[in-house]
Amino acid sequence: MCGIIGYTGGKQAAPVLLKGLERLEYRGYDSAGIAVINNGNINAIKTAGKISALAEKTDGGSKLTGTTGIGHTRWATHGAPSDVNSHPHLSENGEFAVVHNGIIENFAELKSELTAHDVHFTSDTDSEVIAQLLQYLYDGDMIRTLRKAVTRLIGSYAIGIIHAYSPDTVFAVRKDNPLVVGLGSNENFIASDFAAALEYTHDFVQLDDGDIAKLTPRAVTFYDANGKSAVKTPYRVDWDISQAEKDGYPHFMLKEIYEQPKAITNTVRPRVKGNEIVLDRIQFDAGNVNRIERIDIVGCGSAYHAGIVGKHFMEKYCRIRVNCELASEYIYSDPITDCRTLTLVISQSGETADTLAALRLAKKRGSHTIAIVNVMESAIARDADDVLYTYAGPEIAVATTKGYTTQVAALYLIGLKIAKIKHTVSDARYNELLKELLDMPKKIEVLLSDISDIKSYAEKFSDRKCVFFIGRGTDYAASLEGALKLKEISYIHAEAYAAGELKHGTISLIEKGTATLALITQSDLYTKMLSNIKAVQSRDGTVVAVSSQANTKISETADGMLVIPVCDDDVTPILTAVTLQLFAYYTAFERGCDIDKPRNLAKSVTVE
Ligand code: F6R
Repeated sequence: MCGIIGYTGGKQAAPVLLKGLERLEYRGYDSAGIAVINNGNINAIKTAGKISALAEKTDGGSKLTGTTGIGHTRWATHGAPSDVNSHPHLSENGEFAVVHNGIIENFAELKSELTAHDVHFTSDTDSEVIAQLLQYLYDGDMIRTLRKAVTRLIGSYAIGIIHAYSPDTVFAVRKDNPLVVGLGSNENFIASDFAAALEYTHDFVQLDDGDIAKLTPRAVTFYDANGKSAVKTPYRVDWDISQAEKDGYPHFMLKEIYEQPKAITNTVRPRVKGNEIVLDRIQFDAGNVNRIERIDIVGCGSAYHAGIVGKHFMEKYCRIRVNCELASEYIYSDPITDCRTLTLVISQSGETADTLAALRLAKKRGSHTIAIVNVMESAIARDADDVLYTYAGPEIAVATTKGYTTQVAALYLIGLKIAKIKHTVSDARYNELLKELLDMPKKIEVLLSDISDIKSYAEKFSDRKCVFFIGRGTDYAASLEGALKLKEISYIHAEAYAAGELKHGTISLIEKGTATLALITQSDLYTKMLSNIKAVQSRDGTVVAVSSQANTKISETADGMLVIPVCDDDVTPILTAVTLQLFAYYTAFERGCDIDKPRNLAKSVTVE
């Protein structure tokens, strides 16, 4: 969703802001703008459309002189994408410029109040109200004014501000929306996420809700919600800027698919000591594990799908009931949870608003919460009782790939750890599964070494109106993710069905030309799945099976086959995921879609 960058230092600000906005492009946006202070005046240039259009309009930034400024990519919520609705928004007197990520829920009330005081608005956005409010409340002291302003705002926000009479200064404030401060050498930054400033610094400070930051080139001062100066501890991000570049791949998504062997290695390997699983600082012992009566897994989209895979694995090996819930449903379901429930909250970005709200609710009701998160120091990572990072590295493509498979791997680790402590898995099986997990990167490499069949089926099916994905058990869980991947990047209607459910309704949709991908990796379900394949074929549907060579009968039955390396049934969802990611990628490629930035989608969904 919206991206924020702010800069103060010795360089010309506009080119730095443009570069930062490019790094934030992946979050999803429809318009962009920058504002820079020059000799007590704020000059802004903004445009609907791409950053490249903004770069053109500003002549690479050279049309805006000045060393302090703010920039924004907007993902429209209130008001259509247009030049005037783009940020930064200026106050009527031009003294304040504001960029905002989030939603000001009471903007209509504030707007009428300010309009009654003769303030004139120019945009349809909720965000403009912040700039106008600052102008209205300004009493000569920016920190005091900001504190007054935020007490009037209801909703969620990360805000960057420049003020014509505060030279060389950027202000920032946040509540329920991500914002970091980047600490450079004689230059400082604010950013929605550190990717925007990683080229200049690896040292960051996370703002907490209610914090205000005041940045000048040589100093950053933090104030807490009461206006008292606060000491914040910086953290170091060891991600490399090259990890956030395409590195010769045509798309970030393809690069990230190919990074999965490394991402899984980084997630699993450091946690395996001998044959012990050590989950960083998370304390799992007989005392607390035996108290767990239920596990709730909560997430959105692919993170939720990872949770469903985890549910199958944990129920099988830990013999604990597992509920997997969509975060957006969980938060309004009055969940029954307490200290006997372990809540696993999954999020690649660590900033998804619904997931964060679910985490807070579970915690409030006494549940112990563990976050499985990729982005260090993100809100979810910080709020949870414990965190297990997935070490996938930066994920730039909107559609998650390595984020998802590392979440699945992390769930396997947690499941095996609990099962071992509870003695619900035999030592032999535990060792087998651990070995399978450690071997997984090699198997992904084998899969990635020949993708010709995947490409050719993607080409073949790229003109279809609808593709079904069917499977049973964990294959059904994996189908859900395969269908989501295909629909979000190729815009082909795709649905996942539990194969046994087809005959209860959906099979009526099968007709000549309907393409179905059937996932068959569970040995105990082979024969059932073969019957399901035949049922689809009897209605003239075309079925391509996704399975390993271990199941010889499949190639005789299905119309085609996508082969995955031989692997233990219980961990195959990682391999089927990689196959289906590539299938979605090449289908979208064939259709000429904007693969890394699919329409209407945002990488980090920071509003409910
Ligand atoms: C799909 C996808 C989304 C995310 C979802 C949750 O490819 O990327 O469905 O999985 O928005 O995002 P995180 O994991 O950041 O909470």
